[in-house]
Amino acid sequence: MNKKQARRGWIAIFGILLGLFAYGILECRQRHTPQRRIPVASSSTNSVGRYTNHPSDAVQAKLEALRKNPYRERHPEMKGLAQVPPLGTDRLVLRGINSGDYDDFFATWNDRDAVYMLIYIPWPTSKEQAIHYLHSLSYQASRQEGLYWAITEPDAGRLMGVIGLTLESSFDRAELHYWLAKPYWGKGYATEAAKRVIDYVFRDLNIHRLEVNCFSDNARSKRVIEKCGFQHEYLRKECLKKEGQYKDIDYYYLLQQDYLGIQQE
Ligand SMILES: CC(C)(COP(=O)(O)OP(=O)(O)OC[C@H]1O[C@@H](n2cnc3c(N)ncnc32)[C@H](O)[C@@H]1OP(=O)(O)O)[C@@H](O)C(=O)NCCC(=O)NCCS
Repeated sequence: MNKKQARRGWIAIFGILLGLFAYGILECRQRHTPQRRIPVASSSTNSVGRYTNHPSDAVQAKLEALRKNPYRERHPEMKGLAQVPPLGTDRLVLRGINSGDYDDFFATWNDRDAVYMLIYIPWPTSKEQAIHYLHSLSYQASRQEGLYWAITEPDAGRLMGVIGLTLESSFDRAELHYWLAKPYWGKGYATEAAKRVIDYVFRDLNIHRLEVNCFSDNARSKRVIEKCGFQHEYLRKECLKKEGQYKDIDYYYLLQQDYLGIQQE
């Protein structure tokens, strides 16, 4: 082997080692970054189409407006929640929550009947607590550990309730949460919003297992859960104390393959 060939050989070996080193760094970064990339609004344009072919004109128009003019620049203190991708259903727009929603959000809490069914929210509540809670949700969202939407009608635009997810990305698992202010109960809104978010969870976020739970005496929520196709998994007897009473909690799950199977039928 002459000098020239030897030099080429060394260059080739150096190139291979450099490639392996770069690959190692990339692999390591991927393993240590369990956070799930939240699909941005543009990909949810398609999923709006996939979920339902009948969003009203008002819903479509509102979604377009939200995509053109997202909230995040205007609400820096609520950046995490303001940036969630808007989603549409037949009658509803699910959008990011911003600081203009504080009063309406507090209205969803300012009702003992509603709060009594929310596992971790104490009664009575205050507006300061509600805003603090929203900021904590926003922080969670900015860390991609949660996603929450305001449930709104397209014309009024006011926050009527909240639907959201806590995300456990390393396990491809999420938990669903929802509540509405009492004037909006009984219109099918919770089920409509939940079905839309479930579709987003399995198709866009590629979550494997979605969980939900509720107090065993929460008949309305149980019905929503049932209509969304969740499977009952277990009941924890008297596992939580609310207003001095030990309460049972029912736990449910839905797997991605079951949901997509159901959808493909
Ligand atoms: C639970 C909640 C979100 C339901 O919202 P909603 O928009 O009224 O729900 P939907 O209209 O989509 O569905 C409610 C179902 O419960 C049924 N329902 C209403 N009152 C009921 C009752 N007392 N017993 C049994 N079922 C009842 C409704 O008829 C409907 O079922 P249907 O479509 O088969 O007729 C709402 O009541 C709420 O925010 N409650 C307080 C907070 C809460 O419980 N959050 C859930 C925590 S897990």
